[in-house]
Amino acid sequence: MKRRDFIKMLGLTALSTGIPFPALMAIAAETTRVLPIAPLLRPEDGRLLLTVQEGQTTWFGRKVKTWGYSADILGPTLALRKGELVAMNVQNRLPESTALHWHGLEVPGIADGGPQAMIPAGGSWKPTIRVDQPASTCWYHPHPHQRTGFQVAMGLAGMIIVEDETSDALALPKTHGVDDIPVVIQDKRLDENFQISYAMDVMTATVGWFGDLMITNGAFYPHHEAPQGWVRLRLLNGCNARSLRLACSDNRPMYVIASDGGFLETPIQVHQLDMLMGERFEVLIDLGSGRDVDLLSLPVRQPGMNIPPFDQSVPVLRLQPNSKPGHRSMPKALVKLPAIPSHQHLPIRYIDLSMDHWMMMQGMRELRDRFGGSMGPMMGGGMMGAGMMGGGMMGGGMMGRGRGMMGRGMMGGSGGDIWKSNMINGRAFTMNYASFDVKVGQYEKWIVNGSDMMLHPFHVHGCQFRILQENNRPPLPHRRGLKDTVLVQGGESVILVRFKHQAPPERMYMAHCHLLEHEDTGMMMSFTTSAAKTRR
Ligand code: C2O
Ligand code: CU
Ligand code: CU
Repeated sequence: MKRRDFIKMLGLTALSTGIPFPALMAIAAETTRVLPIAPLLRPEDGRLLLTVQEGQTTWFGRKVKTWGYSADILGPTLALRKGELVAMNVQNRLPESTALHWHGLEVPGIADGGPQAMIPAGGSWKPTIRVDQPASTCWYHPHPHQRTGFQVAMGLAGMIIVEDETSDALALPKTHGVDDIPVVIQDKRLDENFQISYAMDVMTATVGWFGDLMITNGAFYPHHEAPQGWVRLRLLNGCNARSLRLACSDNRPMYVIASDGGFLETPIQVHQLDMLMGERFEVLIDLGSGRDVDLLSLPVRQPGMNIPPFDQSVPVLRLQPNSKPGHRSMPKALVKLPAIPSHQHLPIRYIDLSMDHWMMMQGMRELRDRFGGSMGPMMGGGMMGAGMMGGGMMGGGMMGRGRGMMGRGMMGGSGGDIWKSNMINGRAFTMNYASFDVKVGQYEKWIVNGSDMMLHPFHVHGCQFRILQENNRPPLPHRRGLKDTVLVQGGESVILVRFKHQAPPERMYMAHCHLLEHEDTGMMMSFTTSAAKTRR
């Protein structure tokens, strides 16, 4: 798509959602933004300071109130090394309390930063972290119960890069911000005053908060100049509720080299890359030809996420090769992943994600009323048809194992309380309630079931797991490495988990849907981990 056409398209969209006309000119002025690269923050004398603060960001020539970590929006990229001991100091200068979670880091519950670890306004939190996992791209974000969606929407999120001997040795692009590029993709919605417009209501509790513009590292459709060669993108889907399908505008392949928890065994070629909220993938893209390419966001099958402009492909980042020679080759092999142990006789846990039926129907109706038209494109085909009415709910969900919709959604449910409209195993999140205890070091098989057809990225704190089955299917090749998030959408996913560290009742690990409005309205549970009794 030509840039001019894109602007025109966005203009129309903007008009239809109420952003005033002068914005269009400003949008045009914005289209040559350089991709912002957050500063790398390394521990100094083993210490790291992050200040959670209010700020402002200029979009479309207007000043927008945003929040950031030691920044106006987003935060520095934390550069950590395996084995390192880091004393974190998180200072909360927001007008409200927050919590800070290291998503993907395998740290003890006491340092994990779940909703039990609230930092009051003006307060601080000082966990010590031992970096104890392979090289990977992780991230950090707020986690206060019922406020996570809002605080992330305001701009709070940052990347974490863990390096180790393996990543040192691999012949990959490594010049940070040049050919090794962090890319945080998020959608936003602004009101008529150009301020972030967040609302929690029946509709957002159902489909999530979604925007009508996409920002990349805090900027609108930025471009990045890179040497002529392979570039490595460290992609993060930092959206509240939107799953992404990424592709190159000229359909050139991307090679996935790492998932949430670290490197894959070999690069895996893909032409489209689906990313759930919270997921990270590292990909290599070849700029050796010297030709520009746009990273596109393509339409996805998720209710609410096909509303214009996202019923079309939308460019989110332009990559422009300069005249400098770049990284020439891509390694054939990366790492050896630990073999998946035999899982015949492992302890099994059933985890059922569900939504209040009545609330969900209200939410879908509101989506249709507010954003109009036929539900066709929004539903992405199959949502209502095969899914809700047919096999999905009745089969696995409703009747199967007696853990389905009947007990809660339809009869009991939330009683109209929006904050309890989403559930795990029939219970909306209850602070300080432990669902179960897992022994440290013990492999377990978790069977995660979705009794509705909504998209639920199921995320577990404190571990990097392996996916044995993803929404009724064997996982795609690039989803077979270390993961902390798995897709559940009307089907059953099976993950193999193991925890290295303890999480006591006062600082439990969380497992939740990473559609943040589902999480905030109850689709989250806590659990403890404890030392295994030593047998003689
Ligand atoms: Cu990224 Cu508990 O979350
Ligand atoms: Cu997490
Ligand atoms: Cu969900």
